[in-house]
Amino acid sequence: MNIAVIGTGYVGLVTGVCLAHIGHDVTCIDINEEKIKQLRTGHSPIYEQGLEELLQTTIHKNNLHFTSSFQNGLTNKEVIFIAVGTPQSDDGSADLSTLYTVCEEVRKYIHRNTVIVTKSTVPMGTNGQIKTIIEQKTAENISIQVVSNPEFLRQGSAVYDTFNADRIVIGSDDKEAIKTMEELYKPYKIPIVKTDLRSAEMIKYAANAFLAMKISFINEIANLCEQVDANVDDVAQGIGMDNRIGEHFLKAGIGYGGSCFPKDMNAIITLGKRSGYTLSILEAVKYVNEKQNDWIADKILKRFGDLKGKKIAILGLAFKAGTDDMRNASSIPVVQKIISAGANITAFDPVAISNAKHILPKEVNYTELLEEALDHADCAVILTDWKEIKDYPIHLFKQYLAHPIIFDGRNCLSLQAVKECGIEYYSVGRPTIK
Ligand code: UGA
Repeated sequence: MNIAVIGTGYVGLVTGVCLAHIGHDVTCIDINEEKIKQLRTGHSPIYEQGLEELLQTTIHKNNLHFTSSFQNGLTNKEVIFIAVGTPQSDDGSADLSTLYTVCEEVRKYIHRNTVIVTKSTVPMGTNGQIKTIIEQKTAENISIQVVSNPEFLRQGSAVYDTFNADRIVIGSDDKEAIKTMEELYKPYKIPIVKTDLRSAEMIKYAANAFLAMKISFINEIANLCEQVDANVDDVAQGIGMDNRIGEHFLKAGIGYGGSCFPKDMNAIITLGKRSGYTLSILEAVKYVNEKQNDWIADKILKRFGDLKGKKIAILGLAFKAGTDDMRNASSIPVVQKIISAGANITAFDPVAISNAKHILPKEVNYTELLEEALDHADCAVILTDWKEIKDYPIHLFKQYLAHPIIFDGRNCLSLQAVKECGIEYYSVGRPTIK
């Protein structure tokens, strides 16, 4: 099929590259000309495992193209994917301005029957709006069919997730459009859930809200484990092996962050309020997450009393391992709290430092060498479970730190190993080692 994908963020780019890989002819469109130039040379502007290799093969086979011109990219396409950002507005709802601007462009260049597919996360009813905007002024003999096709890709493993998805969701009020999408996705051999437009939109929010709920749930259990001397990792394993519960997203820590969960939680809660329904569980999930962000700073303050003049090594800044993304990272409130308590921070992260510099207080010092952060620090604080941190030899923590004290917000280290090494160790929902 002849396909256009608008937006080359991680969702749009991965979608385009993978569809080209399974044999479709794909044109990716983005207004950022620098990005387009870079992509044409086969280099990805974002890091996604396996993406650059696929990008290069598909460009080489000549079925993947890049353009910054809507006219060139949209002309004569059977299917047009929209994968632009829907960031959070000041009132918590999703900001749809870029999406609607793109729809205006699409409307200008459609001269044949076209299926418009929304990948962007949008509140219920938005796809109906998209149809109305695009149908205005298009010739009467042209049919515009709209599909909601939410994505469930994790940043960092989006290529893997595309080929190994548990399901593909296709929502449309138009049977022909659903058939076209089934045909388009056939080579993936992934089960398809077919539904109407609004239910597909809801599936995306409900999925992210459910995953966020699992995380807040296990964090609450972790906090209780600390009160009663139980080990949350064992509890998570013990409950997760029950298929009805499932083992994923039960890793206790300092709370979820990133560009999706916090934004989508706010959007669904705001949507509930606007529709006259209070989503009590989800409000609690958000509240627990915000409280969990304070967990580690509170522990450090309790341990030291006063942080004035203390040197603290922060290990990991990105919202999760495998990405340089700092958006809504749980490290932000933690670092802010520790800085306001008077500590000097040296932060280590393998890839997120340049993004962190725009977000964290200016007092933070940065290093790409873990030992430099640890050197003569009063304690180490783990905020992202990078491999570099998890696999760092325990005895070196002891060697470099002025005092062998570790606060582990991601339960990265083995209790036995820290005990044997004689390190004072605080983790989430597991016994303290002193
Ligand atoms: C999330 C969803 O997992 C994807 O399915 C969805 O498509 C995507 O949002 C989106 O809406 O675009 P992502 O934000 O990339 O993907 O990150 P996750 O891997 O889901 O992690 C989110 C946060 O939860 C991270 O801060 C992570 O550290 C935290 N987390 C995750 C935990 O604290 N515990 C866990 O057990 C799992």
